[in-house]
Amino acid sequence: MTSASDHAEGAAVAARIERRWTILSAGIVGLLIGMAIFAGIHKATMPQAQVETANPQTLHISGEFIESNLGSAVEADGSVTVRAIGQQFSFTPQCILVPAGTPINFRATSADVVHGFLIEQTNLNSMLVPGYISVLPAKFNTPGEHLMPCQEFCSIGHEGMWAKLKVIDKTTFFKMAADKRRLTCVE
Ligand code: CUA
Repeated sequence: MTSASDHAEGAAVAARIERRWTILSAGIVGLLIGMAIFAGIHKATMPQAQVETANPQTLHISGEFIESNLGSAVEADGSVTVRAIGQQFSFTPQCILVPAGTPINFRATSADVVHGFLIEQTNLNSMLVPGYISVLPAKFNTPGEHLMPCQEFCSIGHEGMWAKLKVIDKTTFFKMAADKRRLTCVE
């Protein structure tokens, strides 16, 4: 038989549990809000600090985007940096060569208007904005070829603006890189 005091005790226990869950849910909501605020502020403040610029007028005269420096370069840490330029209505180099299974860093910019840098069958997609350097880290697991159509309308020749990315065997690439400063697959 249950007495009135049993009922009161049961209600007190229920209230305590309820209170605990209220605090826990409020805590979770608070944590999520905190994370959103942090991510928002982080995103709003970080890109500015990382933005790299390149004067489109002097790309061909000096700096890292001079023609002799375009293409794939092997870095001291074993990664590969690929430098490329988009201009109305082509990419330089027209054929980009990279090794499979290697960290790749694409660094690209535009010499005139906004172009698109997109590598098909991957999630690599960026705008090439004159004045700014687009940096895209990547890694290709298997050898193969990818088309790179310009995906930003850049005037009448847009449809015909594209490049090719060739991913080759790692050993072959590094053998080729040993006696050449910059690699491309432009024939
Ligand atoms: Cu370049 Cu469209």
